[in-house]
Amino acid sequence: MISVDRRTAILQMSALAGAALLTGPLRAETLPIGQAAAAPPAPPAGPFTLPALPYAYEALEPSFDAETMHLHHDKHHQAYVNNLNAAVAAHPELAGKTLDDLVINWASLPEAARTAVRNNGGGHANHSFWWPTLGKGGAAPSGELAKAIDAKFGTLPAFQDKLTDAAMHVFGSGWAWLVKLPTGQWRLSQRPTRTAH
Ligand SMILES: [Fe+2]
Repeated sequence: MISVDRRTAILQMSALAGAALLTGPLRAETLPIGQAAAAPPAPPAGPFTLPALPYAYEALEPSFDAETMHLHHDKHHQAYVNNLNAAVAAHPELAGKTLDDLVINWASLPEAARTAVRNNGGGHANHSFWWPTLGKGGAAPSGELAKAIDAKFGTLPAFQDKLTDAAMHVFGSGWAWLVKLPTGQWRLSQRPTRTAH
């Protein structure tokens, strides 16, 4: 799991961009010794592709080391892309839809495709949004975001505490977000659901 220090670093980088906080296991799954992995069929090459990181894999050290970035980008995010492409290939009625089309309207998709689109389209969308928000040497929020944080949470540290708390108490691994609703209201959101604590 991510250490508290690392999560705090994630928060500091993410919150300052008004973005999201990702939590979850960082270790790749391993097979028992002697168990060979069957070669999976090659996933469809598209229509969705893994976006390149907008910085070097080691650019965020020491908060994120290069190994962590490779794991989350090359393994986790790539898996979401592959699985989403597989879902689209298996359901021709999804052909031609954009990622936003799929994610926003997932509940109206054919039932057999919903879970795959929600999980993998969501993972692809969340990671794609998140990577560019990370960086070193960030500054405090400004403008509309700063006003919204002050109005809703009082202070930036108070907001950071709330976002950290939301992220630390998702069930399993997931995300915490500060989102602006179509109504103009701002809401702290977390997926999956909150654990008891
Ligand atoms: Fe990830």
